[in-house]
Amino acid sequence: GKAGYPWFMLKEIDEQPQAVADTLLGRLGNRGEIVLDEVRISDEDLRGITKIFVIACGTAYHAGLIAKYAVEHWTRIPVEVELASEFRYRDPVLDRSTLVIVISQSGETMDTLMALRHAKEQQARVLAICNANGSTIPRESDAVLYTRAGPEVAVASTKGFLTQVVACYLVGLFLAQVRGLKYEDEVAAVVAELRKLPDQVREVLAGVESVRELGRSLATESTILFLGRHVGYPVALEGALKLKELAYIHAEGFAAGELKHGSIALIGQGTPVIVVAPSPHGRESLHGKVVSNIQEVRARGARTIVIAEEGDDEVLPYADHVIRVPRTPTLLAPVVTTVPLQILACEIADTRGLDVDMPRNLAKSVTVE
Ligand code: BG6
Repeated sequence: GKAGYPWFMLKEIDEQPQAVADTLLGRLGNRGEIVLDEVRISDEDLRGITKIFVIACGTAYHAGLIAKYAVEHWTRIPVEVELASEFRYRDPVLDRSTLVIVISQSGETMDTLMALRHAKEQQARVLAICNANGSTIPRESDAVLYTRAGPEVAVASTKGFLTQVVACYLVGLFLAQVRGLKYEDEVAAVVAELRKLPDQVREVLAGVESVRELGRSLATESTILFLGRHVGYPVALEGALKLKELAYIHAEGFAAGELKHGSIALIGQGTPVIVVAPSPHGRESLHGKVVSNIQEVRARGARTIVIAEEGDDEVLPYADHVIRVPRTPTLLAPVVTTVPLQILACEIADTRGLDVDMPRNLAKSVTVE
């Protein structure tokens, strides 16, 4: 049941600290190493990988986009992310030294399954990141890393998504570890940060009421735009998708730097623009660029809503509203910055009198191509 919540989605949003903790459970070793007993591809084969594809649909695809930043950074292996429905129609270059990571909450999405089969025919190694135990996608893969989100009932994925992102970090760090001791210290440092994530998600959830109030103020908008850079870009895409799915509001996510190349024309007086700001403690240029993007859209009349790290005061002069998230390393930030966007979409849909758990035209698991 809904355990007293009006919507399964709200319950599942609240379950995220536990879901993230469960997904990490037993996979972080005492010496700061990654322990993935379920990945049954030999270390030798993992060392021979020269290219990675991440394949998924919908929200899971956004987890894949985040994976690209982290996995390439930690492993120095080139990573391509592709929508499952596009992948096999363009004759991708795959062989034995290619690792294909398929991400699917349900493990039954037909587009993803067909992409997986195509990859296997081409001799690629396939690793599934999946939530549903014993479902088709992990059964047909060479290896599986289960997210441990528990059953997800709401059609729009929340804890499924957050645990997919965490599982991608684990895979990236594991590959870095298997492939060379050069990265050992870095792996241990990130592991220490991963351990903090459940509490940090809890911190974001403690601020739920002010995010809901903001959501109510946005419920009659006809267009809402989302901006992000680096890993904030897939988070912006995910925020926009959630809003489209649940509230039936026109929403788009943009790479903050690309806006000026066309889409900035959409911004008029009062257009809400939600910006995912990176940590000011990460690469200085990244944060500075996003601050100027906020300035640019505001100068054109946008109502700016900024998701910013605790203590980031540089955004204040240009933000009409700030949503705070705890300090995390840049690559891990999506685990905290996505949460307010989930709450916003949920609240906006609820205020509009819509069925949050069962949006029109959508199904939890799509088993046709
Ligand atoms: C859909 C769902 O069509 O499939 C989305 O409505 C979901 O919410 C997508 O993200 C992918 O599903 P899965 O189970 O493969 O992660």
